Amino acid sequence: RRPVVPTDPDALAESARRRMTRTGWSYVTGGAGAQRTVDANREAFGRYRIVPRQMVDVGERSLATTLLGRDLPAPVLFAPVGALELAVQHQLGRGGRRAAPRNAEPALARAARDLGLPVAISTQASTPMEDTAATLGDSPRWFQLYWSSDDALVESFVRRAEASGCEAIVVTLDTHVLGWRTRDLDLGYLPFARAEGIAQYLSDPVFQQLVETRVRAASTVRSSRTTGTAADASPRPTVAAVRSLLSIARHHPGPTWRNLTQPYARAAVETFLEVFSRSTLTWSDLAWLRERTTLPVLVKGIQHPDDARAALDHGADGIIVSNHGGRQIDNAVASLDTLAPVVDAVRAHAGTGTRVPVLFDSGIRTGADVFTALALGADAALLGRPWVYGLALAGADGVRAVTEHVLAELDLTMALAGVSGTSQIGRHNLAL
Ligand code: FNR
Repeated sequence: RRPVVPTDPDALAESARRRMTRTGWSYVTGGAGAQRTVDANREAFGRYRIVPRQMVDVGERSLATTLLGRDLPAPVLFAPVGALELAVQHQLGRGGRRAAPRNAEPALARAARDLGLPVAISTQASTPMEDTAATLGDSPRWFQLYWSSDDALVESFVRRAEASGCEAIVVTLDTHVLGWRTRDLDLGYLPFARAEGIAQYLSDPVFQQLVETRVRAASTVRSSRTTGTAADASPRPTVAAVRSLLSIARHHPGPTWRNLTQPYARAAVETFLEVFSRSTLTWSDLAWLRERTTLPVLVKGIQHPDDARAALDHGADGIIVSNHGGRQIDNAVASLDTLAPVVDAVRAHAGTGTRVPVLFDSGIRTGADVFTALALGADAALLGRPWVYGLALAGADGVRAVTEHVLAELDLTMALAGVSGTSQIGRHNLAL
């Protein structure tokens, strides 16, 4: 019997919690520190109220929109979520031994394809992007980039994204270091999550080269230890991370995974820890990326109008207002409260005639929430934790159900607010 996917967002989360491992649940639901921004993101929606309007002909309604030149059935995307496999670990029992085929991203991709809504494929996905792209068929997809400290690896990711049919690059700016995630820290999940989020790297030719160089260097270090020369100052992977990676490799169909050996796995984790981010980035680096792809580049993690302006000045084609679901800074401002100022800055900066898309995430749970974000000026909203809960509950069916619930409520909210198309939604629909 298929599990029921509740329409109530709290009931949805609670049903998912009962199916997930503690580790998976904590990873998905948890935020930074004392969880104040996770809560603030939700509370902020309570401060913007929708005003119903009557006697407007709303007999024919459409959620359709156009984003970056692509017609979409609704202004909703699937937010990038890394290490997604952690969300479906209930299928393995609590012992952590993997008996089922790996299926998190394929399930997401099937649901997204059925709905025709774009997926933002994470740099830290549990599945190589080429496999996800194959499942997506002609359905739209974007690539979310964590900017590596290795230029060649960044370029390789971008080339692969282009070859995989991605229609935009989303550069996530707010996670060059990982926030203080208390729940994950207390459960010691990090080694496992890191291994679950390493698929894009392992399947990358540039990354494989870096790993091979490291394996060779390690054997040189070993043979020169007797003379007391080289010292290895790289970050040490934990035994758990290496074990986890090897166990993933055993169950993954991809050839690059199956051939992982103990020294290669260790070197892969070490290399990943070294290259996964770059904290020295400044706005001028955006131009470097801009020159290397013809795809639109959006920046994710904007919370200040000055940052939005700087992004546009340095070549960004779109802005994603987000605080990473409250996972980065505890007590950071609610993402929704930063939306209108950023929208105003972008609209004033871009001038008339050009429509620079401003997207929003962090706290969207319902169709009314999407309506509120659109009313404050967003062109589209990214759905995050709710679809992950749907996935944990019922795989592709669960992702589809959760998204359909959000879209149905958005449609009804429009009808009852006297709006028949998403482009008509504006601040006039709110009691400001
Ligand atoms: C994320 N998010 C994220 N963002 C990103 O750019 N790359 C990533 O790999 C991830 N990974 C990730 C994992 C999990 C488990 C969560 C919950 C979130 C952030 C995500 O894209 C989005 O910004 C937030 O999920 C929005 O917050 P809500 O609405 O989910 O609370």
